[in-house]
Amino acid sequence: MSSEYLIRSLLMLFLALFSANASNWLYLAKLSSVGSISDEETCEKLRGLIQRQVQICKRNVEVMDAVRRGAQLAIDECQFQFRNRRWNCSTLESVPLFGKVVTQGTREAAFVYALSAASVAFAVTRACSSGELDKCGCDRNVHGVSPEGFQWSGCSDNIAYGVAFSQSFVDIRERSKGQSSNRALMNLHNNEAGRKAILNNMRVECKCHGVSGSCEVKTCWKAMPPFRKVGNIIKEKFDGATEVELRKVGTTKVLVPRNSQFKPHTDEDLVYLDPSPDFCEHDPRSPGILGTAGRFCNKTSKAIDGCELMCCGRGFHTEEVEVVDRCSCKFHWCCYVKCKQCRKMVEMHTCR
Ligand SMILES: *[C@@H]1O[C@H](CO)[C@@H](O)[C@H](O)[C@H]1NC(C)=O
Ligand SMILES: *[C@@H]1O[C@H](CO)[C@@H](O)[C@H](O)[C@H]1NC(C)=O
Repeated sequence: MSSEYLIRSLLMLFLALFSANASNWLYLAKLSSVGSISDEETCEKLRGLIQRQVQICKRNVEVMDAVRRGAQLAIDECQFQFRNRRWNCSTLESVPLFGKVVTQGTREAAFVYALSAASVAFAVTRACSSGELDKCGCDRNVHGVSPEGFQWSGCSDNIAYGVAFSQSFVDIRERSKGQSSNRALMNLHNNEAGRKAILNNMRVECKCHGVSGSCEVKTCWKAMPPFRKVGNIIKEKFDGATEVELRKVGTTKVLVPRNSQFKPHTDEDLVYLDPSPDFCEHDPRSPGILGTAGRFCNKTSKAIDGCELMCCGRGFHTEEVEVVDRCSCKFHWCCYVKCKQCRKMVEMHTCR
């Protein structure tokens, strides 16, 4: 084997590991130094975008700050939802932002893809409603009088625009691969499931008009759920995710449950191909998997945040720490509450 061949193979492997990752655009969240993404030139300099995303960036420069806010939203929500799990969504300072965790077809990857596809749709829709963008505004298709008798009025969130943008920007790498690989199918499915978590949970918000709060005229508009709600829904889908495999039906390839006794997943469910690692130990070959040494755990919980499971049976350290809390709160007429500050010692447990 020539050394040239060896070098080339290593290079290919490197590219496969670090560039073939459709969630690299999340790195936009780290680009606070770029300032605002204000011109087409900036698009060329953004790390983590593939060429076709750079083109979308250039055609939609004004939308890119919303995309970046979406990336940040996804990271924050992931860390909140996974705060008590062994893998807690910690990010690296490089691409891919979540390291090895999202380069495999795991349940965690399914969660990250769904959440980030949703976060872009959410952030772009928000930007439309706030009047920040020339290209989109409120949803004008929502108008007239509803069957319930209220007047559609005010700014309905233009979720169709946000979803369409997310589909073109987030899904593009998978689509350019011709949708043939099982990972591409998995990612596309989960991206769509994430966006469904918003689409299928739109709500109607209303305001009453009339003399002293009477509801003679009611005006309503369609609004997205708060992003925390979207995160909760996708986390539930993570807990109930379906393990799937690729099956050929005629000439098309589809993902079907690996266990044929399970009922097939719906458009809103998450699917995954590979079992997750246990996330117990720090693995230098798997960037992003930090292990659970030093993590807080709950001595009385039997769940994944309990010391037994969190520390993977390695045991834990216990430390007494002082916490300051509000206590002996008294209600004073009228109308405020006054509290004392209490100090107390509590036991804190951290994994060995
Ligand atoms: C996640 O866990 C690591 C240790 O495994 C810790 O350093 C980090 O502060 C935790 N939290 C977040 C949000 O990353
Ligand atoms: C620890 O777990 C128990 C049982 O699940 C729960 O009641 C308690 O609030 C938890 N403590 C903390 C500090 O989270």
